[in-house]
Amino acid sequence: MAELIEIAGRLEGLHLFSDRASGLRAVIAVHDTRRGPPRGGTRLRAYPSLAEAADDAARLAQGMSYKFAVHGIPYGGGKGVILQDAAGASDRDLLEERLRAYGRCLERLGGHFATGPDYGITSREVDVIREVTQLAIGEHGSQAGPATAAGVRVCLEAGFARLGLELAGRRILVQGVGTVGGPLARQLLAADATVLISDPSPAGAALATELGLELVEPQDALRADVDALAPCATGQVFDAEAIANLRCRLIAGAANDQLVGGSAAAEALAAREVLYLPDFVVNGGAAVLLTARLERGSEPEVQIAEARIRATIAEVLRRADRGLTPYAAALELAEERLAQAV
Ligand code: PHE
Repeated sequence: MAELIEIAGRLEGLHLFSDRASGLRAVIAVHDTRRGPPRGGTRLRAYPSLAEAADDAARLAQGMSYKFAVHGIPYGGGKGVILQDAAGASDRDLLEERLRAYGRCLERLGGHFATGPDYGITSREVDVIREVTQLAIGEHGSQAGPATAAGVRVCLEAGFARLGLELAGRRILVQGVGTVGGPLARQLLAADATVLISDPSPAGAALATELGLELVEPQDALRADVDALAPCATGQVFDAEAIANLRCRLIAGAANDQLVGGSAAAEALAAREVLYLPDFVVNGGAAVLLTARLERGSEPEVQIAEARIRATIAEVLRRADRGLTPYAAALELAEERLAQAV
């Protein structure tokens, strides 16, 4: 309980939901709504405890506030987490019941928070939530994955340019080849990079075979001898040990919440002369695409998202010229915009 109160203290709102009939347990964190109503994906994952799920939701919701702010999108940060368990993992019907129950929870929040795909929630699950509420975005046919991948690709390009290199010919490891990492691997290949992938799922092995790519064991991914790493799976990737073992020069990936300990990790990366591009800047493609769609009812092209990410990363790198890490520069930009909104 004390833990939950501490977590709630970092947020505007922490909502806990359960549904007796389906066994749904879910958390919705609302971080900062000074720039607009909260938006953010919902993830489906197993957690050791409710407090850990709430803590994840809180950190991810904060990331969404920063993401919307840096990219100049008029929304606030929120995030949903559905706690996965053995029953939900093995029984699709039960999972779908829980997804509909979750949709009804969104309705109970009064339409304030709208949500979309994230880790463990693809357009297929979004479609199920949409059976009961319009507050689910990123349904079947959404280009959220390719748009996010395009944003990562242009950030890799910008990062290499800063190092005086071109993307073509570089060795890039994509960690996690799901909704975003999969399209990213294809886009990087099309841009003439040498792509390696790491993903323990059967889909990872299948993609490696299909595209003829080297498949790196998960435990070797972060110390692979490559030019760049693109983490596109879970968060909390770079702790002190991982940073000490890195052999790349550039990191830009789609995973949310990559740095264990935030700014200190960003400083440690800079000290190792690794150019780290902040996750909440790099992975904004879906946020641009999904919120624009919700606002206008139109279908902006992947290119609109790509152009926005390209402009923001250029601005962040310009700010970093004052001797800041790109992470510090991006935080500064985000905080400025959040404060302006009051
Ligand atoms: N979950 C994704 C993200 O973190 C995509 C998303 C953005 C989903 C905005 C809903 C709203 O950016």
